Amino acid sequence: MKNNNSRKKEHIMLALHDNVEYGSAGFEKILLTHRALTEIDFDEINLETNFLGKKLKFPVIIEAITGGFEEGGKINEILSEIASEFGTGFMVGSQRPMIENPELAKTYKISKCPPVVIGNIGAVQLNYGMTNNDCVQAAEHINADAIAFHLNPLQECFQPNGNRNFKDLKNKINEISAGLRSKGIKVIIKEVGTGLNYEDVSALNVDCIDTAGSGGTNWAIIEGKRGTNPSAELFYDWGIPTVKSLIGLTSLKNKRNLEIIASGGIRNGIDAAKCFALNADVVGMSLPFLREIYAGKDEKILENIDKGRAMENLRKFLNKFMDELKIALFLTGSRNIREIKGKYRLKE
Ligand SMILES: Cc1cc2nc3c(=O)[nH]c(=O)nc-3n(C[C@H](O)[C@H](O)[C@H](O)COP(=O)(O)O)c2cc1C
Repeated sequence: MKNNNSRKKEHIMLALHDNVEYGSAGFEKILLTHRALTEIDFDEINLETNFLGKKLKFPVIIEAITGGFEEGGKINEILSEIASEFGTGFMVGSQRPMIENPELAKTYKISKCPPVVIGNIGAVQLNYGMTNNDCVQAAEHINADAIAFHLNPLQECFQPNGNRNFKDLKNKINEISAGLRSKGIKVIIKEVGTGLNYEDVSALNVDCIDTAGSGGTNWAIIEGKRGTNPSAELFYDWGIPTVKSLIGLTSLKNKRNLEIIASGGIRNGIDAAKCFALNADVVGMSLPFLREIYAGKDEKILENIDKGRAMENLRKFLNKFMDELKIALFLTGSRNIREIKGKYRLKE
């Protein structure tokens, strides 16, 4: 069986060099309401927001990617540094490797304290020996504001030797959530690219949901390319597109005191503006950040990360993204991300 390290490296190499996105997240179906008489000064647009009780300068979360091997540690260092610089949130990749081997804990090091730090654990691991104490330790190691439990049933089906026992996870997540929340650690439930639906999320007692809908990074493609299961291709279009997942979850947000991260296929500032119109609190992305770290590098190896160039690329990407978001806010007459809420119509 492959160990977690080489598996994670293969995921990253495929995400960098292959086309691992599929279909549409649904943004083309949302038309933002254009206002000619915007009645605002562009310069008064403010992207600050509160999330998980903290202030973000920009309403973005750099989502889970990696950890557990040396180059993964370097990626986490770079991403957490850019998150601090821009005042966005930052989520590490699955912390299972460091729980199984404490020597790997250093590869989850957080640089310069981003305003919101989020840990990450596969919920299915609660059926494979992961304890309450392991989850608390994972959070404490990175001084996390929250732990995100990811649900990834499709990925586990196509991952060689995947963990397919998802029985009784509802009770286990709720039990572990209660323990974490009593220690002041918030709990997020996320998918990894196939979307969350109302029924699943409403059964869980969590603080925040992260859609990770379909239309972005696609695990049937990634695991299909790695694995031996010839049926993976049949499942490329499986899942709930991000826009559909978001619309389905909005009523739950209104009923409970839940925060929503919209993610899965968000690639520019207009996509983000549409998520805010649909009532998301922040937006999350993984693939674009990973690719910016390597942009301009031809080498098909991970060992060669140029930190200076990666930081420059990430700055350019984030500045462009924020400018696009601000223009969309301006053109809808919105001074901040709350004011754009509801300013859309569905395309027939
Ligand atoms: C290379 C790679 C590794 C990932 N690893 C994790 C992980 O360890 N834990 C997790 O919850 N999600 C993981 N994800 C999923 C992302 O956090 C995110 O939910 C998903 O990719 C959708 O966003 P995107 O379309 O912007 O990539 C990973 C994504 C990529 C591209």
